Amino acid sequence: MQILRTTEQATELVWQWRRRDATVGLVPTMGALHEGHLSLARTSVGRCDQTVATIFVNPTQFAPHEDLNNYPRTLDTDLEGLRREGVSAVFVPESDEIYPPGFSTAVQPPSVARSLEGEFRPTHFQGVATIVLKLFHILPTTHAFFGQKDYQQLCVIRAMVRDLNVSIEIVACPTVRETDGLAMSSRNRYLNPAQRIRALRLSAALNAAEHAVRDGQRDTIEIEQIMQSTLSADGPEQGVDSIDYATLVDAQTLQPIRQIHERAVALIAAKVGSTRLIDNRLIDP
Ligand code: PAJ
Repeated sequence: MQILRTTEQATELVWQWRRRDATVGLVPTMGALHEGHLSLARTSVGRCDQTVATIFVNPTQFAPHEDLNNYPRTLDTDLEGLRREGVSAVFVPESDEIYPPGFSTAVQPPSVARSLEGEFRPTHFQGVATIVLKLFHILPTTHAFFGQKDYQQLCVIRAMVRDLNVSIEIVACPTVRETDGLAMSSRNRYLNPAQRIRALRLSAALNAAEHAVRDGQRDTIEIEQIMQSTLSADGPEQGVDSIDYATLVDAQTLQPIRQIHERAVALIAAKVGSTRLIDNRLIDP
């Protein structure tokens, strides 16, 4: 497995493969890899002739008060995991390589970025869209793999690729969960044992929403109330500490809906202690 440090090395390697007509999969990550990230790598290795992963904790998608400096960094184990999955190369740039002095351009994210995460993290998706477009140019692959865990991020990237005519196939991969239902996340390691139990409220609330729809409930206000009460039930010892949103919206536009007739997505962002967790579930009426 090749370790690439410069943009020139990275671009040259991908073009070597592309000149031989190989399909190439891109798996962008911020490291601190878990089974969710590795499942993207595995899917890419299965679908494409070559796979290149990236590990870069992108500073521009973190707000000043967020956890950029404490973001977990576990490079050696990350590389070992990717090697075991059969990844051909990993691009691990320093920050200067991506944002050299004088860098000042940014992607204006599509409208689907405005609600939900966009309200609570107003600069986040501009940082994500910019780094992802840069990675698509540095590593001109045929495919790129993203997790459904970050559902709105996936919508933002799909819209950007469509709006800016980027020639790449975006592949969505299912959310990988712990056996008890908690969606895997690099941030789960911040949770202490008691918080780890309370974090299960997110997947429980999504289950409750799904069951309500299965039982015939179509009214989104009712379903959102069920999610809210599952998240906060039994007082602060058992529930999450605060809820940013727990909502059911159109699965494509992320616009509010009153009744579920088409495919919808339930999305939650909540804090347990100081750890902010997100999760979601696609819901077919
Ligand atoms: P990161 O949070 O490291 O996630 C990298 C990829 O792994 C994303 O596509 C994310 O959706 C996916 N992922 C994370 N947890 C997952 C899980 N439990 N199951 C399945 N997939 C999961 O998302 C980012 O990094 C960054 O914003 C990035 C796109 C790399 C741009 O900096």
